[in-house]
Amino acid sequence: MPYQDILDGIYNEVFQIENTGKVADYIPELAKIDENKYGIALIDKHQNVFSKGDALESFSIQSISKVITTSLIFSKIGNDLWKRVGYEPSGNAFNSLIQLEYEKGIPRNPFINAGALVIADLMLDHFENPKEYFLEFVRELSENPTINYNQKVVQSELENGYRNAALVNFIKSFDNIKHQPEEVLDFYYHQCSVEMSCVDLAKCFQVFANNGIIPKSNSKFLTSSQCKRMNALMQMCGFYDQAGEFTFKVGLPGKSGVGGGVVAIFPNQYTVAVWSPKLNKKGNSFYGLESLERLTTITETSIF
Ligand code: DON
Repeated sequence: MPYQDILDGIYNEVFQIENTGKVADYIPELAKIDENKYGIALIDKHQNVFSKGDALESFSIQSISKVITTSLIFSKIGNDLWKRVGYEPSGNAFNSLIQLEYEKGIPRNPFINAGALVIADLMLDHFENPKEYFLEFVRELSENPTINYNQKVVQSELENGYRNAALVNFIKSFDNIKHQPEEVLDFYYHQCSVEMSCVDLAKCFQVFANNGIIPKSNSKFLTSSQCKRMNALMQMCGFYDQAGEFTFKVGLPGKSGVGGGVVAIFPNQYTVAVWSPKLNKKGNSFYGLESLERLTTITETSIF
């Protein structure tokens, strides 16, 4: 497949579309980004890397980190995970509180903020130094030892994250958070603040396209069944209340973040990451979705 030509074509075409998105400004530190950044990277099953635009520039991965924390906990505790968090699409915004009360503090899935906070609580239980472990693991998957947390973004979320503070306290009132809310938020904001490029992200997600095996070391991280379930979660919940539209238009498991990143996988074929900071009304990268819709249409590589 002539991936480089395809990426070049998509990039040039999408750049012509008027971008009606808006950079996330509810985290003030994220609003400082140059909104015209746009990069795309694809890694095929032979580990060839194709890229275009700002594909090597690091950005805040935000909610994309939730896939990594969830998979770490899933690999540790297996199906006991589903006692603490569900695996159904929420049909609500990523930071919504409304389902939690009538579902008695069990978040619908691990990718909405409520679910990711429960996973962060589990990270504190299962790793002696979760921040260090998480960072090392992301570096291993991405084969990039320079990846790091951005403390300014952590601070910015701490100072402005009233909704997350509400969520974690509310879930604790149902006994589904064991640690102190401050500790959980501290870990959660660190995982969200990790900065990676499109190439790093495409490398990082190869494990999900590769049946749970980390390509570089050939080590099995997730069982085949766990890998299947992680991909199912990305398909159903990776884009919150736009998961249906992403499935309809792109047709791949994937995950977005409010830093403007989107990553998607085609099992056994490729991983792809796009970055463009302007977000649509559902909080997903406007150009990210435009790019991936074109990619799967041109290459006929949707899983459907
Ligand atoms: O907690 C938050 O709101 C952010 N740290 C992450 C949200 C996010 O990335 C949602 N994704 N589209």
